[in-house]
Amino acid sequence: MEETLVIIKPDGVRQKAVGEIIARFERRGFEIKAMKQTVLEEAVVMEHYAHLKEKPFFREVVYFMISGPVVCMILEAEHGIASVRQMVGATNPQEALPGTIRADYGFISGSNVIHASDCPEAAEIEIKRFFG
Ligand code: TYD
Repeated sequence: MEETLVIIKPDGVRQKAVGEIIARFERRGFEIKAMKQTVLEEAVVMEHYAHLKEKPFFREVVYFMISGPVVCMILEAEHGIASVRQMVGATNPQEALPGTIRADYGFISGSNVIHASDCPEAAEIEIKRFFG
């Protein structure tokens, strides 16, 4: 079994897609190990996206992530990390495959509805970062 960290971003919460997104994970067999709605601290988001700090869109991404409440979850399933990433789809919603969460609820790349850990090392760090 593998745990992974998922964040439904402010645009997902604003368009009231939280329930539908959680339902997709439950239908796929994920167990919700923890879940909370919160407004993220700027410093936490800057740390979370530190790998992008030289990018021209960094400030925009940080401000977007603190622009409203998010829903953080720890999800668990067999091969959970890859399975969630597959359900989430490509970073740019316009390139995400039909049926993925980003294709169905996203509009532009900076505003792509959901975050999911991309490997076991990231999942471990991100679970600690958002759930202590
Ligand atoms: P990244 O960690 O590369 O992708 P992912 O979220 O799919 O793991 O990027 C983090 C976020 O930064 C991404 O979800 C949206 C934003 N972003 C942009 O706005 N433009 C871009 O070109 C990239 C690569 C990311």
